[in-house]
Amino acid sequence: MIRYRKLGYVALNVTDVARSTAFYRDVVGLAQVGEAGGAQCLRCDFDHHNIMLFGGPRPGLKRIGFEMASRRDFDALFDLLCAKGLRVAEVPAAESAQVHQGASFRLTEPFTGATFEFYESMREFGGQPYVPTVAKIQRLGHVVLRTPDYADAVAFFTDVLNFQVSDSIEGAVTFMRCFPNPFHHSFGLGNGKARGLHHVNFMVTEVDDIGRAIWRFNGAKVPIVNGPGRHPPSGSMFLYFLDPDGMTLEYSFGMEEFPEVAPRKPRVLEPIRESFDYWGAPTDPRKAAVGEIEGAEAGAASRAGA
Ligand SMILES: [Fe+2]
Repeated sequence: MIRYRKLGYVALNVTDVARSTAFYRDVVGLAQVGEAGGAQCLRCDFDHHNIMLFGGPRPGLKRIGFEMASRRDFDALFDLLCAKGLRVAEVPAAESAQVHQGASFRLTEPFTGATFEFYESMREFGGQPYVPTVAKIQRLGHVVLRTPDYADAVAFFTDVLNFQVSDSIEGAVTFMRCFPNPFHHSFGLGNGKARGLHHVNFMVTEVDDIGRAIWRFNGAKVPIVNGPGRHPPSGSMFLYFLDPDGMTLEYSFGMEEFPEVAPRKPRVLEPIRESFDYWGAPTDPRKAAVGEIEGAEAGAASRAGA
């Protein structure tokens, strides 16, 4: 059974790297690490990077990195995906060393078209914890993508990658754990007309991080596009806001954790507004409106040959 350690990092394409680096550092509260592998790296954990910002004309997702539980799991996943004829590419050792990672490979996931990177390890940044500034960020929490191939994508993540479903809102979104990571979801899939990035989440330490963010964002003219509210599936209090390119980010406070053995069964919630938010916060149409998945159409088209 394939085992993961955690969602490790998200690489984003941004139109102005300097502007976005300042935003993720000063407004979101990540620590800037510096340039590596052609990207500006920032972190909110022990890792060298949890966010990578690449310059590009179209804002969106470049790739998502998951850290494997062990070298054995890394090798087993690589062999499994190759045996299924999927598009898998080893990252050259020089390239993974440049970004302070151990052995790494990338998969073009056939139903979202997104690039997923699986890596054996990542260097810690000087062995020092990240020091919070404007928000007590605990970790990179999760990423949600949307795809018209929703049911197939959910089946791929559960049946092939061994992600576990925690809950779903029927026909709309499925929340998954990267087994055996305990958090309710490290990854989510939404049912959408087009492939795209829905949002990137950072988990914060206390309710005050949410409250302070509201006023910090108001002062900095950062659009809040949904929240504060509370998600019924995970129990998380949420606040969604936009980065300088209009991509949607989320702070969340509190999340259900699952035991590895004998977890509760997944729930299916009715596809009604109340299933998304106990509090009834209005949603700005700009929420999740920006963020293309790099190479999505070509990546999704590849499944015909997979
Ligand atoms: Fe979220």
